[in-house]
Amino acid sequence: MARMIRLAILAFALFGALAQTTVAVTTHVVGDSTGWVVPPSDDPLFYAVWAAKQTFFIGDILLFNFTTGSQDVARVSKEAFFLCNSTNPIFLEKTGPAKITLNSTGEFYFIGTFDNNCFKGQRLAINVTTSPGPTPSPTPRTKPENFTVGDELGWVVPPLGEIAYITWAYNKTFIVGDHLVFNFHNKTDDVAVVSKEAYDSCNTSTPMALYNSSPAVINLTRTGEHYFTSTYDYRCDLGQKLAINVTGSSTGSTPPSGYGSSPSPSTAKPPASSQASGPGTGSPVAPGPSNAAPNSRISGGYMFIVLLPMAMGFLH
Ligand SMILES: *[C@@H]1O[C@H](CO)[C@@H](O)[C@H](O)[C@H]1NC(C)=O
Ligand SMILES: *[C@@H]1O[C@H](CO)[C@@H](O)[C@H](O)[C@H]1NC(C)=O
Ligand SMILES: *[C@@H]1O[C@H](CO)[C@@H](O)[C@H](O)[C@H]1NC(C)=O
Ligand SMILES: *[C@@H]1O[C@H](CO)[C@@H](O)[C@H](O)[C@H]1NC(C)=O
Ligand SMILES: *[C@@H]1O[C@H](CO)[C@@H](O)[C@H](O)[C@H]1NC(C)=O
Ligand SMILES: *[C@@H]1O[C@H](CO)[C@@H](O)[C@H](O)[C@H]1NC(C)=O
Ligand SMILES: *[C@@H]1O[C@H](CO)[C@@H](O)[C@H](O)[C@H]1NC(C)=O
Ligand SMILES: *[C@@H]1O[C@H](CO)[C@@H](O)[C@H](O)[C@H]1NC(C)=O
Ligand SMILES: *[C@@H]1O[C@H](CO)[C@@H](O)[C@H](O)[C@H]1NC(C)=O
Ligand SMILES: *[C@@H]1O[C@H](CO)[C@@H](O)[C@H](O)[C@H]1NC(C)=O
Repeated sequence: MARMIRLAILAFALFGALAQTTVAVTTHVVGDSTGWVVPPSDDPLFYAVWAAKQTFFIGDILLFNFTTGSQDVARVSKEAFFLCNSTNPIFLEKTGPAKITLNSTGEFYFIGTFDNNCFKGQRLAINVTTSPGPTPSPTPRTKPENFTVGDELGWVVPPLGEIAYITWAYNKTFIVGDHLVFNFHNKTDDVAVVSKEAYDSCNTSTPMALYNSSPAVINLTRTGEHYFTSTYDYRCDLGQKLAINVTGSSTGSTPPSGYGSSPSPSTAKPPASSQASGPGTGSPVAPGPSNAAPNSRISGGYMFIVLLPMAMGFLH
């Protein structure tokens, strides 16, 4: 439930951000009223969710609101960010509230260096871009495209959790005829097409289709919402899950499927012929017993332990 609310807030805020066209300097209060702290419930996605709601332009100001002596903020390298390594920061600001002017484009990484604060989620990654010119009004796309899920990251447990695939998907428009290409490791991962309920609860016991040969190429044959995850241990709980909305049609003739209704297995299942779309790849296998671990939620602490080696792998 909290997750759904968070996603709803995220989606709402993103549309707001995209609609905004002012070029004025913005002061971004990091974490809004929560400020710069160990996030509530040690939520490792807290600052990623906050950052996803913002658009950072060159010249903007980040305001880290914290209590001097009990928190601090260090700007660090990408590697140090993923490892929570505060040994050799680019700079360290010990007095709160700290204002940092974003004076160049590109990625900025910040962590708290007190205790294990960074490990508990006090870390922020942002991407600063140049101010947008007048944005051309988007014309609906009619030509099908191939989308590589997660781009270079591929189909993995993302280092910072599900926000990775939310971010990957939210700014994209999918139309009928598009292909999703999932790149993953054969035998240690797979792609399950699942219902909204299964996506939300990470119950992968009855996928609608299962692809276990990489790359899996999935043809988007209908409008509406599509949900994917992995059936392997804890992968879904750790954020390896993707929800997309197919809104357009390459022919313009396909009526949208019911909005808001959770697709039942019979209506949501794409035509069988369309699933073996990639030449020689991605054929679904009969869904068998899932090897997914029990549908337990995972604490932030456990999540970090699992994520750390993956984050290290991500750096290579
Ligand atoms: C910073 O935090 C303090 C204490 O929580 C609060 O009173 C103040 O309004 C915050 N400042 C900003 C700019 O949000
Ligand atoms: C942390 O960073 C320092 C300096 O950049 C480096 O010497 C050290 O090996 C790093 N520690 C870890 C655990 O990676
Ligand atoms: C950006 O700000 C930092 C610290 O405030 C400064 O060291 C650096 O030279 C600035 N970079 C540019 C391109 O102005
Ligand atoms: C940051 O933005 C630049 C330019 O928009 C883009 O090329 C780059 O991939 C972005 N980095 C991340 C981590 O999103
Ligand atoms: C998508 O990939 C398939 C092969 O998987 C290729 O035949 C097709 O031309 C690609 N389509 C586009 C629009 O790139
Ligand atoms: C959304 O996509 C458009 C065009 O692909 C790009 O210009 C824009 O920077 C993206 N916005 C975000 C927040 O990623
Ligand atoms: C998972 O879903 C299946 C059928 O969709 C259901 O029978 C089973 O009880 C669910 N398991 C849990 C733990 O909710
Ligand atoms: C996965 O296995 C298939 C054959 O089952 C093979 O064609 C494909 O190249 C393998 N993919 C990777 C990434 O190893
Ligand atoms: C999916 O797309 C349809 C058609 O554009 C839209 O009405 C609906 O709100 C979208 N659903 C979600 C969850 O974004
Ligand atoms: C994907 O589906 C569309 C619409 O059903 C169809 O026209 C197209 O040929 C399919 N592509 C593949 C590779 O199956």
